[in-house]
Amino acid sequence: MIYKVLNNGIKMPMLGYGTFQVTDAAECKNSVLEAIRAGYRLIDTAQAYGNEDAVGAGIKAALDEGLCTRSELFITTKVWFRSFETEDCRKSLDESMRKLGVEYIDMVLLHWAFGNVYAAWRVLEEYYKAGKIKAIGVSNMEADRFIDLINFNEIKPALNQIETHLYCQRLEEKKWLEKYSIAHQAYSPLGQGRSNEMFSEPAVKVLAEKYGKTPAQVILRFLVQSDVAVIPKSVHTERIRENINIFDFELNEDEMLSLQALDKASPMIGNPEAPEKVEFAMTW
Ligand SMILES: NC(=O)c1ccc[n+]([C@@H]2O[C@H](COP(=O)([O-])OP(=O)(O)OC[C@H]3O[C@@H](n4cnc5c(N)ncnc54)[C@H](OP(=O)(O)O)[C@@H]3O)[C@@H](O)[C@H]2O)c1
Repeated sequence: MIYKVLNNGIKMPMLGYGTFQVTDAAECKNSVLEAIRAGYRLIDTAQAYGNEDAVGAGIKAALDEGLCTRSELFITTKVWFRSFETEDCRKSLDESMRKLGVEYIDMVLLHWAFGNVYAAWRVLEEYYKAGKIKAIGVSNMEADRFIDLINFNEIKPALNQIETHLYCQRLEEKKWLEKYSIAHQAYSPLGQGRSNEMFSEPAVKVLAEKYGKTPAQVILRFLVQSDVAVIPKSVHTERIRENINIFDFELNEDEMLSLQALDKASPMIGNPEAPEKVEFAMTW
């Protein structure tokens, strides 16, 4: 596993396990357990996924099996924007800790930058200072918004989790993230499985063949080598194992450029700049 040192000195695995749409409790518990068995140490969930208790059950099972210690795990959750008012945010964080069965959370993100972002951020700062959260960050936040947030608050976000994959590499956004020392984490690194097209790209297939890897592994490797942390989701044990098995090969500079050339710079899933997507999010 490769780690990223965040701007507050905390170490975060560059590859983790995503749990969006893993809503069946038994399946979720099992998948988290399988992920930890396979070597994942970062687990990504959110209040809005409705699975924090099942994720917590998977973590507990892994700890009971002695697969790792709590301090080796990196648990991320997110606060939904309907809970951004001060008291609601505190309640949401307490509930996340209770459901996950943990005394502290490694990373908490503001899920989307809607509603009372400032109030929620200050609650995250409060929990961070109290040691209940080890690092705080944002998600789906454009550079203009995080520059504003940074300038009027005490603690800088450690991470921005944004849709990032082969067709939406966020090369422009990355420059701003680097300028402000905010780590870049890709959600939907495999395009949420919507894009068979991505797996069939000739440039991807050539590299998969050369290194004896699958297209998914080439894409995840490309992102990690681009200093983008990834959190692929799968409920299938063989894919869970496949997706973490990317640390035994390295793409060379030309190969990296051949994949960078596939960027279409357009999000397919979450786009905070598209008014119709924002309107849709408001219905949640
Ligand atoms: N912050 C946010 O707003 C936000 C938004 C979306 C996601 N996320 C986080 O990011 C995580 C990952 O994103 P995601 O779940 O949207 O999409 P993803 O990880 O890009 O793709 C998941 C899909 O790809 C399939 N898949 C996984 N591994 C595969 C492989 N090796 N070969 C072929 N297909 C494979 C999965 O199917 P099976 O499960 O059937 O294997 C699933 O349908 C989420 O789970 C969540 O934790 C955050």
